[in-house]
Amino acid sequence: MTAQIIKGKEVAQEIRTALKEEVSGLKENGLVPGLAVIIVGENPASLSYVRAKHKACGEIGIYSEIIEKDASITEEDLLSEIDALNENPDIHGILVQLPLPKHINEKAVINKISALKDVDGFHPVNVGNMLIGDDCYLPCTPDGIIELIKRSGEDISGKHAVVVGRSNIVGKPVAMLLLQENATVTVAHSRTKNMREITKQADILVAAVGKPNLIGAEDIKPGAIVIDVGVNRLESGKLAGDVDFESVKEVASYITPVPGGVGPMTITMLLRNTVEAAKKISK
Ligand code: GUN
Repeated sequence: MTAQIIKGKEVAQEIRTALKEEVSGLKENGLVPGLAVIIVGENPASLSYVRAKHKACGEIGIYSEIIEKDASITEEDLLSEIDALNENPDIHGILVQLPLPKHINEKAVINKISALKDVDGFHPVNVGNMLIGDDCYLPCTPDGIIELIKRSGEDISGKHAVVVGRSNIVGKPVAMLLLQENATVTVAHSRTKNMREITKQADILVAAVGKPNLIGAEDIKPGAIVIDVGVNRLESGKLAGDVDFESVKEVASYITPVPGGVGPMTITMLLRNTVEAAKKISK
């Protein structure tokens, strides 16, 4: 069997086109969705993510600001900056790019963002609402993953989903969202024993570890849906996922490529959350 490729880039484009139309309608009614992105320091990967977010906003008509702060900024000053954005009526979504410098408490920063403007879905209020299945901003990468699986046309309900990785940004929330969709969910991680025995049971496998080509064909149940969240830069400069795409695509039924799979969906879900935030806040 050769897997069907889940083309995240195309799905993302479809959603962005629909969002662009929606934003244009909102603008006719005087509402311009606004996103503020704060970046602290000069981490090159973070800078490139932040620029990509800014560009994507511009393309669909969302107003966006990048607020660049020196790595030496104090936690207090960063919190005041967030306070000002919480009060700013032109800004509906606030995102602080992670990671932050060591001297700044990430939790304090996330907690400071108004839950109503937390388009990253990282604030404990949103995390809690997600856990109990209430209305909230969902974290962008997990939300994008669910969207991709649904749009493949496959049912999630009743399937055994195995998530490899337990980060707060991807592993834990995607496990919760899969559960909400009625999957039977296993979370595997670095301390898991007999990893292969577990991944081989997966009807849906989500790999979110950050180790290039960790998952090979021998780890996969034939016909599984394989979602690769890994973005690993190889010494050659090429990007690799956590899944060995070439071998796994011969065993899986669906697979996401890297790049062009989950990645483009993350920013798209951020755009969607920002539009939702504008509508909610202006009500
Ligand atoms: N760093 C890596 N991924 C993310 C993300 O989705 N949001 C933020 N704020 N920082 C990140």
